[in-house]
Amino acid sequence: MPKITAPSIRARKGGPKISMVTAYDYPGAVIADRAGIDMILVGDSVANVVHGMDTTLEIGLDEIVMHTKAVKRAKPEALVVADMPWLSFHLGEHDAVRNAGRLVREGGAEAVKLEGGRKRLPVIEAILDAEIPVMGHVGLTPQSVHAMGGFKVQGKVVDAAREMIDDAKALSDVGCFSIVIEGVPDVLGELITKEVDAPTIGIGAGPKTDGQVLVFHDVLGLGSGKYPKFVRSYANLADDAVEALERFKADIESGSFPADEESYHVSAEVESELLKDS
Ligand code: KIV
Repeated sequence: MPKITAPSIRARKGGPKISMVTAYDYPGAVIADRAGIDMILVGDSVANVVHGMDTTLEIGLDEIVMHTKAVKRAKPEALVVADMPWLSFHLGEHDAVRNAGRLVREGGAEAVKLEGGRKRLPVIEAILDAEIPVMGHVGLTPQSVHAMGGFKVQGKVVDAAREMIDDAKALSDVGCFSIVIEGVPDVLGELITKEVDAPTIGIGAGPKTDGQVLVFHDVLGLGSGKYPKFVRSYANLADDAVEALERFKADIESGSFPADEESYHVSAEVESELLKDS
């Protein structure tokens, strides 16, 4: 598969459908890339699913840089997009460009994603001006959890839905190569997708977006077992892992691990010499 780039994703408006999954480390990126996934998002959801934090507000730029580096070591064909964490793009254009630049220069990211609509246009323009592709993100934006009063489906009333369409149009028009739409009614996911030139990537936004994204641990059933309505788990790896470790523990306790073929050996002479005095 040829290397996927921001322009090649941008060119896929209208199909073929785009796949994206989060990954936060080397083995996750290897697995995602072996599966032929189009984009790997080093999401700030790493705060919740890897670090066990309550919100994404707790993760910082240094951690996202570190996770992006680990993902990039897999040398994926997939486009690697790094999330700009909370407060890394809220303090002005200069600061935002420097932080996006760290994700690219130190982390190796090939694009960045940031949450928000028209209010973020100046920073998005500045980052684009520094030649860094930007993915937008509208709808349920988890970094706004306190402002939204919780993790709630967005755009359920006409005015809010229209505002969101205008936000997405502005992000597309300014040059975002794609836009994540999260936690909105299916009809709004469809409407935004029709209205904007950039491909839309949905998560809890219905089936009519140009692509879909889910969190790695949710798709693979590696999480707590309590997933949001929009998640489809294709495996139950957490249960498989517990069962495997229970069998490992039992084999240690019974003495059946390690077996002869799992042990290193010396020659019979050396062994008898060593054991002579014991
Ligand atoms: O951080 C993340 O995982 C995300 C996706 C939910 C799009 O932003």
